[in-house]
Amino acid sequence: MSDTTHEQLANVVHELPSIVECKLCQDNNHGPTSYNGSVHSPLAVIGEGPGGVEDEYGVPLIGPSGQLLDKALWSVGVTRDKIYTSNIIKCRPKGNRTPTVDEGQFCANAWLDQELALVKPKIIIALGSVALKYLLAPTARITKDRGKWFSTKYGIPAIATYHPAYLLRLVGKDLVKAKWEVFYDFTAAVDKCKELAPDSGLKSEIIPDLLELYASRKNSRLDKA
Ligand code: URA
Repeated sequence: MSDTTHEQLANVVHELPSIVECKLCQDNNHGPTSYNGSVHSPLAVIGEGPGGVEDEYGVPLIGPSGQLLDKALWSVGVTRDKIYTSNIIKCRPKGNRTPTVDEGQFCANAWLDQELALVKPKIIIALGSVALKYLLAPTARITKDRGKWFSTKYGIPAIATYHPAYLLRLVGKDLVKAKWEVFYDFTAAVDKCKELAPDSGLKSEIIPDLLELYASRKNSRLDKA
């Protein structure tokens, strides 16, 4: 099962860019940034789309937002290597703008849906508005809907929380409040995950150095460019 999931995901990653005609994909010199982490994890964290660092490495959520995500996960006893991380869109839009709802739908219908069908996590955490709008509804609002459980079209329960990039823009009391809210949301997700998958560990004792680990992914991207 483990090798099969890896292989099937590798096929998706390999084949999709050539069969799906996507403007974001065509505009992107580096190629899509796919998934990262454990394909057998009960916990999937879904972000928005790659930023500059992710685009360079081809690995989701490893730039400033990803590093803050790591700290938030650590605070609830989770390390990145034990979870599955991916994004709604796989190519960074020109100028690093926020992807539209339609772009999110197009990319995630083609790609994320296949990933989640293969990985079958027990719980999904939606990071920020773009992920929430895809996983719940285009009318959903992160300020109103974060911290509440909802059911996804995959039949997998999900909870949304603020995107780390939003936290990075906050200061003072707003930042303190938002950090606590993220902590409560992550705690709720981890508790439910442990309830649904009591035997799966979510924490490695040594935090992996992702940039080191993915240097080869970066180099293979540079070779292709
Ligand atoms: N990097 C990602 O991979 N996803 C985000 O949502 C933001 C930055």
